[in-house]
Amino acid sequence: MGAAIALSGLLLGATACDDDEEPPEEGQLSEQAQKGLEIAPFTIDTNGLSLAEKEALGRGSYVVNSIGSCMDCHNTNAPDGSSKYLSGGTSFAIGASGEIVYARNLTPDSATGMKLTEAEFIELMRTGKDYKSDNAEEVLFVMPWLYYRWMTTEDLKAVYAYLKKIPAISNPIPDDIKGAAGAMRPVPFTGSYNEGAVTRTLPAESSADTLASNRGLAVQPLADPAALATLSANEKTQYGRGSYLVNAVGSCNDCHTNPSRNFAPGPDFGDVTTSVFMSGGAVYSVPPGLNALTKVTRSMSANLLGAQHGAMAKRYQAYEDFNKAFTKGDVVVDGVARKLAFPMGLTVANFVKMTDSDVRAIYVYLKNQAPIQGAGDKATQQPARYCASQTDCGASETCNTATNECVGGACTADVQCGACQVCTDSKCAAPEASSACLRTGI
Ligand code: HEC
Ligand code: HEC
Repeated sequence: MGAAIALSGLLLGATACDDDEEPPEEGQLSEQAQKGLEIAPFTIDTNGLSLAEKEALGRGSYVVNSIGSCMDCHNTNAPDGSSKYLSGGTSFAIGASGEIVYARNLTPDSATGMKLTEAEFIELMRTGKDYKSDNAEEVLFVMPWLYYRWMTTEDLKAVYAYLKKIPAISNPIPDDIKGAAGAMRPVPFTGSYNEGAVTRTLPAESSADTLASNRGLAVQPLADPAALATLSANEKTQYGRGSYLVNAVGSCNDCHTNPSRNFAPGPDFGDVTTSVFMSGGAVYSVPPGLNALTKVTRSMSANLLGAQHGAMAKRYQAYEDFNKAFTKGDVVVDGVARKLAFPMGLTVANFVKMTDSDVRAIYVYLKNQAPIQGAGDKATQQPARYCASQTDCGASETCNTATNECVGGACTADVQCGACQVCTDSKCAAPEASSACLRTGI
């Protein structure tokens, strides 16, 4: 992981400084496609390919290896610590009675890899349809197709083309045990964006909309902010591009909106919880090993859009500061510099592979949202610091060895304490085992 981060840092360094569109080496390849060809973890043989084919492979690689973060779930974490690229097998528990699903092998291995046609792949990404289920009527459950379904046909085709080029790896995947989730059915793709506060018809797809910016303007969960009308044409394109990256590819909402969606069966299934859109509060327990290494026991997703507590309003007046947090995990909170904690601390290794113009687009999108006011503006907490013994904590703190977190620091409100800790008698205390925060966040 360390080496990968360092390498992609170098690649970014090599291209980040030219804000003006310089003629790319490859002639007419888009900036994203060129970047995609650079960041693929194997050499893509483009000999003899047409420009359109190269463009598709590059774009596909860009989506998969940067903002789409497919590797985070689809890489095989082998016992020897090596990570096999997109060959699947990682298990995800989805219930308390042994329900479990496994990330699929996406490589072109003929026996154990992905066997979908391009049309089936697009249908799966758009509706969640699980072609591997007995009756092909079940839906994928962990796979974030509720985001990817909004990607343009061109980008979905590009991802498919890229997956057909990656090295084949033999890795048989066990059958899923879905339990009650097996009763869920694919969600028809109607051509209209209907999971936010406003329903919008998706604009006709056009190859002139290379940045999928028009698509992005439609797939925005909140009503259009007043600021949108004041943007220049160029800023509006950036805003649309940013929305596309956030809402169709990046699945930021899964972590930064809590609860992220309505999962009760019915007509509103899948709707984004717009009242708390990107105001944080989801809680993550840092896995054993990584907790000792990063000195964090528990993290809480950041409030990004809140008027009072939101990071965009509080910390990111300057794009450069946002870029440092989003691509390198470097933040300064109340004057103290630190690294972003798990899981964002790992995800930034994918985000650093994006083009500078795309990171800027995300910034423009987030900066122009109407800030969330009132109860939705959550007082999210900083990470709860890990300790094995007293020496890991500050002088005025103690190590709670039952939960491996530093407690006892002075406070006047919970927000000054670590994730899920409570300010009791002016001191930060570890959460009770029954704490709702530990299970569902705030
Ligand atoms: C949060 C984890 C996660 C991420 C991120 C993710 N997937 Fe998946 N994916 C899964 C899981 C788990 C399954 C299978 C079981 C399920 O979801 O019910 C799956 C299944 C699939 C399938 C079905 C394959 C088959 O042969 O049936 C495809 C195709 C797929 N993913 C593609 C992608 C692509 C492309 C990306 C990135 C753009 C991606 N996934 C990102 C978890 C993930
Ligand atoms: C897997 C979950 C996850 C995903 C996906 C995710 N984030 Fe995060 N993010 C977090 C967590 C948790 C934190 C807080 C970490 C901490 O406090 O150290 C965070 C922190 C941040 C911060 C720093 C905020 C601050 O307090 O200064 C920014 C900016 C951010 N995320 C933006 C994004 C954007 C934009 C996306 C989508 C492209 C995204 N994140 C996707 C979990 C996630």
